[in-house]
Amino acid sequence: MVNLEQANELLAEFNAIANTKKHQPFDKNDPLKVGVDLGTSSIVLAILDQDNKPVYGSFEFAEVIRDGLVVNYVEAVQIVSRLVREAEEILGVEIESAATAIPPGTVGNDKKIVSNVLESAGLMVTTVVDEPEAAACLLGLTQGAVIDVGGGTTGISVIENDEVVLTLDEPTGGTHMSLVLAGYYGISVAEAELLKRDHDQEKTNFIIIKPVVDKMAAITERMLEQHPIEPLYVVGGASFFEEFAPTFSKYLGMVVERPDYPQFVTPLGIAKASGDSKYAE
Ligand SMILES: Nc1ncnc2c1ncn2[C@@H]1O[C@H](COP(=O)(O)OP(=O)(O)OP(=O)(O)O)[C@@H](O)[C@H]1O
Ligand SMILES: [Mg+2]
Repeated sequence: MVNLEQANELLAEFNAIANTKKHQPFDKNDPLKVGVDLGTSSIVLAILDQDNKPVYGSFEFAEVIRDGLVVNYVEAVQIVSRLVREAEEILGVEIESAATAIPPGTVGNDKKIVSNVLESAGLMVTTVVDEPEAAACLLGLTQGAVIDVGGGTTGISVIENDEVVLTLDEPTGGTHMSLVLAGYYGISVAEAELLKRDHDQEKTNFIIIKPVVDKMAAITERMLEQHPIEPLYVVGGASFFEEFAPTFSKYLGMVVERPDYPQFVTPLGIAKASGDSKYAE
């Protein structure tokens, strides 16, 4: 059973830490659980203690990944190194290993390269988990589906009896919302990205980008035709809009929940999965 209230508390705590870079008290004798999420729009470092309480977090916006693929290796390594070294300084401990994640369906070299980024940044990779699986891990979801709407893609994982039984990843994400806004107003994508996040413009923005949300809901609907399942959880930064989950819910005629600070669900889930034998390679 998902305890959304508990997940939201953890997410709010992590959000506060990641935006101030102040760490929470922790026992230096206990190993930390470290997760690195290499996303299309940001790289997030999440650190939990053994009881899965947030200790530290940080992130950098970066465009080093596209549709789950590393497109700027050197910069990705530089950012991960920077986040880790800074965390070590602030926490006063050495960070030697971490878990990371890949979009569902990533195989072979594309999968390996994600671990290589961490290794080049001086980290031993303990665990490589599927992104939506990481999200499910954070939520404690053992039955249902997670729809992770990030920058580049919509990734879906169906979970039954605590096992992932179906995954898919489609190239429609928050970037496509920005493209639609840019086209509508005749502005650059960078300007549209800022406008999209302007809370005061949220209602108008949502009307313009709604076709993209409907497309994401249609992707989910196709998955549900293949494999009916409930409950549904949407996560990922692109689900930030207040109307996002209700729009999904209306489209699908089902209850759709969205945790608070949805951009941090996957990174925190990666850290939580770290060292867990269930997710070991
Ligand atoms: N306040 C906001 N309102 C609307 N969209 C937002 C907001 N904050 C972030 N986003 C969007 O969320 C997307 C990034 O989400 P997230 O951080 O989950 O992606 P990612 O993990 O970097 O990418 P991916 O999982 O696709 O590799 C971006 O498109 C960004 O514009
Ligand atoms: Mg992501």
